[in-house]
Amino acid sequence: MAMDIFRIEGPVRLSGTVAVNGSKNASLPIMAAAVLAPGVSVLKGAPQLSDIFVFSQLLTDIGCKVNRRPDGSITIDSTIIEKPVGEYDIVRRMRAGICILGPLLARRGKAEVSMPGGCAIGYRPVDIHLRGLSELGAQIRLENGYIVADAGRGLRGNEIFLGGPFGSTVLGTANVLMAATLAKGTTVIESAACEPEITDLAHCLNSMGAKISGIGSPRLVIEGVNKLQPFNYRVIPDRIEAGTFMAAAAITKGCLHVNNCRLADLMAVVDKLRSIGVTIEAENSGCIVACSVRVHSADITTQPYPGFPTDLQAQFMALLALAEGNSIIIEKIFPDRFMHVAELSRMAANLRKEGSAVIVSGVGKLIAAPVMASDLRASAALVLAALAAEGETVINRVYHIDRGYEKIEQRLNPVGAKITRESD
Ligand code: EPZ
Repeated sequence: MAMDIFRIEGPVRLSGTVAVNGSKNASLPIMAAAVLAPGVSVLKGAPQLSDIFVFSQLLTDIGCKVNRRPDGSITIDSTIIEKPVGEYDIVRRMRAGICILGPLLARRGKAEVSMPGGCAIGYRPVDIHLRGLSELGAQIRLENGYIVADAGRGLRGNEIFLGGPFGSTVLGTANVLMAATLAKGTTVIESAACEPEITDLAHCLNSMGAKISGIGSPRLVIEGVNKLQPFNYRVIPDRIEAGTFMAAAAITKGCLHVNNCRLADLMAVVDKLRSIGVTIEAENSGCIVACSVRVHSADITTQPYPGFPTDLQAQFMALLALAEGNSIIIEKIFPDRFMHVAELSRMAANLRKEGSAVIVSGVGKLIAAPVMASDLRASAALVLAALAAEGETVINRVYHIDRGYEKIEQRLNPVGAKITRESD
């Protein structure tokens, strides 16, 4: 793994146009959906990220032929599934590999997927995925660290409640939804995740011939069909990348035209930004984000969609670190997702962690320091802080950023950032 570092010179003021890529977290389950229908599916707009590459490897490993065309679209030929097994070596590198389980089970009646291991953002169980699939009629057991699922007599529709201690589950909903498309009879998923990535997956599945209604709501109704056709589908823009760029405009007191962004997917974020003094205007296929004052403080609680996304919690902590006044950030999805707190503190942010909350006392300036990237959103927070901090910040372990943001330096430098990538 390349151990690149970033040198980031600050403070800068960003201004100009940045384009948002297709959504990583929508692309991954859609790539898994290709397994449901033998033939060649085409995914358009997927970003060039290591997570997408690892998922392609997972698909290749089970027997698919995966290619990137010159126009950037990904073709997945799932005519032959040689072995319905998601190997440990691949899934341990990317938890999202778990969402191959539902499609493999539906296609082959049997599937094995490595139980995902530890994760930088805390304990992430998959019990709800398994409960949902067993309620569709699969026998599930754990063997040598693998989830072994067997639907010998086929999957049957059922009424399934998918809520958990932290609300709905995004990939759990994706898994059960995909499996239910090919089950016999009708499935009702209650407490389904409503995230735009799930909505996008459901639209893609319907384009394949699935019969899903209630899309976008917590109650999905799926009438099982006998077979599905391959898809030719364009993925939605990445709302988390868009939100990160919005925060970049705000933290640098700049003005960015964030192109290819759907404000409707970002209402909680837009509302929060406006409340702290940032202006946001819809503009063609995106928005203009501007900030000319020191932002005000705000309280943020992360929640399932349409609430404030956990995937922007770290970036907004960086922003609020420079706010006028005190903010409270409460993490209600991943209570331990605070790897960035210690690193931001090295840059002179004034943060105090109390359980799954952080009290942010706004400071007048951040100061550059050598810091360590951890999970990808925490790393994005460090990039934001570095853009606003005085001096040269060095970020180690940039591969974490590369998992979620395609060549971020090449996209922010044209609008005024001073980021250089060096191979360590
Ligand atoms: C997805 O993860 C995203 N990943 C995450 O983005 C995102 O942070 C998360 O949703 C929440 O929005 C992808 O889409 C690839 P969950 P997922 O199941 O589906 C608990 C990023 O930075 N839970 O919705 O794995 C769980 O512990 C990544 O791009 C159970 O208890 O998250 C958490 O508290 C990081 N049992 C809550 O539900 C289960 O079986 C929500 O998790 C499943 C989940």
